[in-house]
Amino acid sequence: MDERTNLLSQNNFQEAIFELGKQLLATADVKLLLTQAIDALIEWTGAERGLVILFDESDEELFEIARHKSQKDIERPQNQTSHTLIAQVRKQGTPFFSPNALEDPSLSHSESVMSLHILSVACLPLLKDQNIFGVVYLDHRGFTGAFTEETFIIAQKVTDFISLAAYSALERYQLRRQVRELEGKLGTNEIVIIGQHEKMLRLIQNVNQIAETDVSVLIQGESGTGKELIARLIHHRSKRRARPFIPVNCAALVDTLLESELFGHRKGAFTGALADRVGLFERADSGTVFLDEVSDMSPGLQSKLLRVLQSGEYTRVGENKIRHADVRILAASSTKLSLLVKKNQFREDLYYRLNVVELDVPPLRERKSDIPLLANFFLNKYAIKYHKPDMHFSSGALDKLQNAPLSGNVRQLDNIVQRVVVMCDQECIQPDQLPLEMSSD
Ligand SMILES: Nc1ncnc2c1ncn2[C@@H]1O[C@H](COP(=O)(O)OP(=O)(O)OP(=O)(O)O)[C@@H](O)[C@H]1O
Ligand SMILES: [Mg+2]
Repeated sequence: MDERTNLLSQNNFQEAIFELGKQLLATADVKLLLTQAIDALIEWTGAERGLVILFDESDEELFEIARHKSQKDIERPQNQTSHTLIAQVRKQGTPFFSPNALEDPSLSHSESVMSLHILSVACLPLLKDQNIFGVVYLDHRGFTGAFTEETFIIAQKVTDFISLAAYSALERYQLRRQVRELEGKLGTNEIVIIGQHEKMLRLIQNVNQIAETDVSVLIQGESGTGKELIARLIHHRSKRRARPFIPVNCAALVDTLLESELFGHRKGAFTGALADRVGLFERADSGTVFLDEVSDMSPGLQSKLLRVLQSGEYTRVGENKIRHADVRILAASSTKLSLLVKKNQFREDLYYRLNVVELDVPPLRERKSDIPLLANFFLNKYAIKYHKPDMHFSSGALDKLQNAPLSGNVRQLDNIVQRVVVMCDQECIQPDQLPLEMSSD
């Protein structure tokens, strides 16, 4: 009875695979994970050499680890292993075993099998939902029949298991890579908007169509969905990009203060107006003014804003002199302005002026597939900030976030991730460590 048969018959196998599972799940680094997996596989199957390759949807090879049973890396594995066979399994997605490769008619066309004198060989696909994303390859050059029926059963079982661990590691790696690419843009002063969901892609496409024009844009969406970010993107891609972008929250100021903030005032115009003041429309000076929560403007101010939009004219508080504004106006509202118009709470003419183009930013629950991407983006940000570079989400944690009722949208997700990075002592964030009971802000 050799060692491998022992492994199966003594029923240690379940335990051994369980230990391997624990080890793989605790490993964040994809290369290390693959090395551990292939070393275990070589040991359990009695193979001489092993190789594992992972590739992405466009067939680009992302990882390749080749090991000898002495637990050493194999240099240039392409020249050492049967690439004909690997290519065949990669194409067909079905496992291949041969205890005597030299006499196997299906390998007679393989130059590598012949020239490398490979005697026993096994090659198995790594699958996720029927899709192949990698292959495992094992061989032996010592003697024919090195692989038995049982070897193949072990190889198949362990490979199924490696598929699970490798796929989630690969997913994490790809997310990180995407995030890093996006972050690369940060350094170049680009506005980074994370989102691959088709609703977000369509939104960005619309931004690109209207950014260069000077039309007013009304950006609607629930709280924390990224309305201001979209406004910044429009400005950034417009011909006004070198001029100021000035956001003003219309809900934060009482009416008189908001008027003076927007249009400026003359000294003595009201109690506390100790000096002349330049308004935002003047300071923006060929730039963009972003009116956040525009729905909160009083009727009086609404008509003054309408005048700016129609003729570019306005006056400072306490002054009659007509001034001209050269600004682009972007506005945002988290309540549907059209509903307020129906209820006579917002001027219809102003609504149409602001709403030359309307952009709707979808809430996270309508683009759940973006949640892992956003979560990893924030994780990277805070991992750097709080000096915890190896922190990562377990796939369970990402699933939990994806299905959480994030009523505070992206801002809430950002807060949750920041909190977990600060509080968590382990590198791998588990589902129960997510503070999902948090309120939206
Ligand atoms: N797609 C995204 N990618 C990256 N970060 C985002 C994205 N959307 C929103 N954020 C971030 O989430 C936070 C909230 O976004 P923002 O302030 O633009 O939302 P908002 O809709 O204006 O919110 P509110 O309604 O509360 O004013 C910001 O820190 C922003 O940078
Ligand atoms: Mg906002």
